Amino acid sequence: MAPSVDLKVFGRTGRKISSIGMGTYYDPAWIATAFLGWRRGTRTKIEAIKTGLGVGMTLIDTAEIYQSEPLVAKAIQDWKREDLFIATKVWSNHLRRDDLFRSLDRSLRRLGVRYVDLYQVHFPNPRVPIAETMGAMEELVSQGKIASIGVSNFSFQQTQEANAALRKSQLASVQVRYSLMDRAIESAILPYCDKEGIGVLAYYPLGHGKLIRDSRLDESAKRYGKSRAQISLNWLASKPSVFPIPRASSESHVKENRGAAGWGIDPEDIGKLDSAFGL
Ligand SMILES: NC(=O)c1ccc[n+]([C@@H]2O[C@H](COP(=O)([O-])OP(=O)(O)OC[C@H]3O[C@@H](n4cnc5c(N)ncnc54)[C@H](OP(=O)(O)O)[C@@H]3O)[C@@H](O)[C@H]2O)c1
Repeated sequence: MAPSVDLKVFGRTGRKISSIGMGTYYDPAWIATAFLGWRRGTRTKIEAIKTGLGVGMTLIDTAEIYQSEPLVAKAIQDWKREDLFIATKVWSNHLRRDDLFRSLDRSLRRLGVRYVDLYQVHFPNPRVPIAETMGAMEELVSQGKIASIGVSNFSFQQTQEANAALRKSQLASVQVRYSLMDRAIESAILPYCDKEGIGVLAYYPLGHGKLIRDSRLDESAKRYGKSRAQISLNWLASKPSVFPIPRASSESHVKENRGAAGWGIDPEDIGKLDSAFGL
């Protein structure tokens, strides 16, 4: 019997959240124009996030550089704060203690919330000691402004160092590229996260759109009566620590992506998918 993937506990936070979340990184051109005050397709993007919330996708990923925090703020207006899991990120030039504090305050203002559920270091910065950043993160936890701490785009060694630098807590999550076609984390980071109870936010879960065009998914898609996107996302979400965060920018895609949860692919078919993708 294949496991069903709907709500899952997120790492050691103890929070039960949707096993498939919503990403709000659009593209560099969108970020550039948004920075100048022109957010193309704002209404459609907000509606997409609202649609996802309406069908139970409670995990939203954003970042201070995405320019999407104000959109998230609008989308969550009618929701009880405690029902949501909002994750944002601090950019790598803001990892000194005071810069980190200022970045978070700006993110909270843009998001219109008093705290975020997860605050992630977007990229490592070798010029800033990780102990300083993680110490500042723990201060923010004590102040109640963030509920948990994560890192993104850290190597295995950097992930271990970040975890070891935390004195009172543990890393809640890592955010890394992970999909059927991008399996680099399976050698070290994923087993480490499984062992330590660290959640894995899988970005580019659809290979940044490439998997939508990949016919290697067709046999499973046909067998389960699902789309290529749904097979790709279910394959990720069926792993205990992994939470895919496909981009949410169209209502129809969000609904389809929600339909990737709540059912399971049999182990035998997982094996076939693995072979089709070269493992
Ligand atoms: N930590 C990091 O450094 C980092 C880096 C990149 C991304 N991320 C996070 O990961 C999220 C996902 O990454 P991503 O958006 O670049 O890649 P992705 O989710 O793998 O792929 C996005 C592409 O797939 C399309 N798509 C989504 N659902 C679909 C469906 N059901 N059917 C067909 N096409 C579908 C999207 O089109 P539409 O837009 O038209 O729906 C878009 O073109 C981001 O939004 C962000 O939150 C994090």
